[in-house]
Amino acid sequence: MIKGFLIACFSLTILLPVKGQELNYDESKIPPYTLPELLVSEDGEKITTEAQWIEKRRPEILSLFETQVYGKSPEHPKGLHFEVLSEDRYTIGNMATRKEIAVYFTEDEKHFMTILMYIPNKRNGSVPLFFGLNFKGNHTVNEDANITESITRMKPRKDGDGEVRPHMFKRGEAASRWPVEMLIANGYGLATVYRGDIDPDYDDGFQNGVHPLFYKEGQAKPESDEWGTLAAWAWGMSCAMDYFETDEDIDATKVAVVGHSRHGKTALWAGAIDQRFAMAISNDSGCGGAALFRRRIGETVNKINSLFPHWFCENFKQYNNKEDELPVDQHQLIALMAPRPVYIASAVEDLWAGPKGEFLSGLYASPVYQLFGLTGMTVDEMPEVDDPVTNGYIGYHVRTGNHDIKLYDWQQFVKFADRHFK
Ligand code: GCU
Repeated sequence: MIKGFLIACFSLTILLPVKGQELNYDESKIPPYTLPELLVSEDGEKITTEAQWIEKRRPEILSLFETQVYGKSPEHPKGLHFEVLSEDRYTIGNMATRKEIAVYFTEDEKHFMTILMYIPNKRNGSVPLFFGLNFKGNHTVNEDANITESITRMKPRKDGDGEVRPHMFKRGEAASRWPVEMLIANGYGLATVYRGDIDPDYDDGFQNGVHPLFYKEGQAKPESDEWGTLAAWAWGMSCAMDYFETDEDIDATKVAVVGHSRHGKTALWAGAIDQRFAMAISNDSGCGGAALFRRRIGETVNKINSLFPHWFCENFKQYNNKEDELPVDQHQLIALMAPRPVYIASAVEDLWAGPKGEFLSGLYASPVYQLFGLTGMTVDEMPEVDDPVTNGYIGYHVRTGNHDIKLYDWQQFVKFADRHFK
């Protein structure tokens, strides 16, 4: 544990080239803060019913997140259409069918993302699905030699000599993060998309991803309240949902959107903007994900905006070092999932993400579930390490170890999904 802590601190110092910012990892040094009201509307009305939440307060909060944090996304494009590129029944020891589906964002099929999907062969009718973005290309999630290599751009090389591209990563390199066999054995499908198909993860002034497809005449970058990269990824996930609704093997009423770290932030936002997602799961999502901004422990607004200027909308930069001025905080993001179940996972050594703040946002979102007659979080105190809380509509665990998504995390997600989907 101490060793892990030292490694975490060491990697953090490498991670943080931003000058002039003090890092805090000490719970006792968290400044006093007041969270924005969850159940009082902008005109001061107390929200006490499900209907008031749905019709009044939820839209207010969603709109603040859209204009001040992630940025507004456009409607799905008119030209959105799909093509099943490949299908093979004999994968994963003959236990699963692999499909690859192109989701074309444009009529001319120049811009598309590829969904890689595994469906259990042993099934009666359609199956529930876990759906998440991957970091390094579809071919890295499993050693299956027939997965088509992702080819979209990733980022420029540090030495300025050309580009890093997903094909530089080995097949199956990220397999430990994608336990396909376990999910199949439990009756779940798994779908994933390489996030660079939607928008490569670097700051290029929004020229190379989906953003330019929507620029109005003369527009060269998103407006201050329009989508950054995280919102673009979430929007891409929402477009994938249009496909899932057409696939008879998938039960589109049981699709859980899941993600680790930056993709955990994305999963929560996807669940917020698209209520067709029946569950959201955030793993080690930290700042801009499940962690409360106002705690200012580990990564802060200023830091995330300096390290990743393209992730959020331009308006969000106003809150650098001014967390108290943010009109929202992340318990409200979790609450946007209600009454759908949501699961938050932390890792005890992941101090950059801030496990306690991830727990608290779930706890403080719980009153909204009560409006629906449901229990959000079933505990008031953060549970012990490796002691998951899975019996409410907001599940939570803090795992031994560091920033990663592991078989242990997925096992808890499956247990939680079993409770709600089966
Ligand atoms: C960086 C970033 C985090 C993010 C993480 C990841 O550490 O600062 O906000 O969650 O990368 O995506 O792995």
